[in-house]
Amino acid sequence: MNKQVVVYTSETGFTQRYAQWIAEELKCEAVNQKEWRHKNPADYQTVIYGGGFYAGQIKGLKKIKNQMKQYPAVGLLVFGTGATPKEEKEMIQKTMDANFTEEERKKIPTFYLQSGLNYEKMSLTYKLMMKAFVSMLAKKADPSQEDKIMMRMIAHSFDFCQKENIRELVNYFENGGHKRA
Ligand SMILES: Cc1cc2nc3c(=O)[nH]c(=O)nc-3n(C[C@H](O)[C@H](O)[C@H](O)COP(=O)(O)O)c2cc1C
Repeated sequence: MNKQVVVYTSETGFTQRYAQWIAEELKCEAVNQKEWRHKNPADYQTVIYGGGFYAGQIKGLKKIKNQMKQYPAVGLLVFGTGATPKEEKEMIQKTMDANFTEEERKKIPTFYLQSGLNYEKMSLTYKLMMKAFVSMLAKKADPSQEDKIMMRMIAHSFDFCQKENIRELVNYFENGGHKRA
């Protein structure tokens, strides 16, 4: 039986890059959500799902969560990629938690992998969303610390993807954490 599989959704390539790095380290396959449709989840012990944060929501997460409810014997682990600096732990935890119910939080291990922003590869819809977001922030009379971080972060394309960011997730497997989940 195959042990793990990495399933991902990636709009501008960041999550795909992390998915491939994780698959290489864990010596398993990385497939996008379209390819995943042709696979049988019951063939795996653990599904590692990755998606980018889009306005606080991990892309494609609802779909995989719903699917995996039908396979209770298969573990699910989730990683989210985002532009938020990895040092902003509280902000990240809050956003991550909002993607899961209390029950799910007990069962599903989650990891945050800092990525970046790629305006060149972004769809027009996302570019417009970002533009609206920037002008909303700019209009704030009394911006919070989080708003200021956000403003600096989203002005241009940037890439903070680093292979070493997957270490915690890979260690989790190597230490057998997925078997205890
Ligand atoms: C419209 C839009 C909304 C975003 N919202 C967030 C967010 O709420 N938090 C965050 O950390 N990053 C946010 N980002 C940055 C993406 O999460 C980041 O670029 C991610 O790695 C994209 O992954 P992908 O290219 O694999 O889809 C946003 C990007 C776009 C274009």
